[in-house]
Amino acid sequence: MTAARLDGTAMARELRAGFASRVERLAAAGVRPGLAVILVGDDPASQVYVRNKVQACEAIGIRSDRFVFAADAAPAEVLDRIGALNADPQVHGILVQLPLPKHFDEQQVLEVIGAEKDVDGFHRDNVGALSQGRPRFVPCTPRGVLAMLDAAGVELRGKEAVVVGRSNIVGKPMAQLLTARDATVTVCHSRTADLATHTRRADVLVVAAGRPRMVTADMIKPGAVVVDVGIHRGAEGRLCGDVDYDGCRTVASLISPVPGGVGPMTITMLLGNTLDAAERRAALG
Ligand code: GUN
Repeated sequence: MTAARLDGTAMARELRAGFASRVERLAAAGVRPGLAVILVGDDPASQVYVRNKVQACEAIGIRSDRFVFAADAAPAEVLDRIGALNADPQVHGILVQLPLPKHFDEQQVLEVIGAEKDVDGFHRDNVGALSQGRPRFVPCTPRGVLAMLDAAGVELRGKEAVVVGRSNIVGKPMAQLLTARDATVTVCHSRTADLATHTRRADVLVVAAGRPRMVTADMIKPGAVVVDVGIHRGAEGRLCGDVDYDGCRTVASLISPVPGGVGPMTITMLLGNTLDAAERRAALG
């Protein structure tokens, strides 16, 4: 078997084209959606992510302001900026790029963002709403994974879904979303004994482990749907994911590549969450 590709680039393009009418409708109501992005420090990967987010906003007519702080910035400086952005009616969404430098308490920073502007879905009110099955803002990466599965027509009800990784950004919300769609969900992590016994049972396998090519062909069930959330730059400069793509594509039925899989969908969901925020404020949503 050779798996078909879950082409995140093509799916993202189609979804973003559909956003144009929402931007126009907001414009007709006198609203230009706005996203504020905060970057602290000079982590090269974070700089690339923030640049891509800002460019994607501008391409569809969302105003995007970037606020950059030095790596040794005092947390109070960043918190003050968030306070000002909370009060700014031109700003509909606020995103703090993670990870923050070690001297920050990340969760404290995320809680200061007004829950109605929390387009990352990391504020406890939004986390709680998702866990109760009444989602408001859903974190962008798991929302993007679900949108990919839906676009490909993958049935989730009654299926065995395995999520590798238990982070607040991906693993935990992914498990909630799959559960809400009636999959039977197992969450695996770095302390899971015999990971492969779990992954081999998965009809749908979502890997967000943060370890290059850790899922190999012998770890997946023939015909499984495999979604790779990881992204790593190898020594030779090539990007790869948490899944050994070349090996696994001979066993899976559907598989997402890296790059060109989950990444473009994540940014698309950020645009969608920002439009949701603007529409809610304008009472258009
Ligand atoms: N760092 C890695 N992923 C994310 C994300 O989805 N949002 C933010 N703010 N930072 C991240």
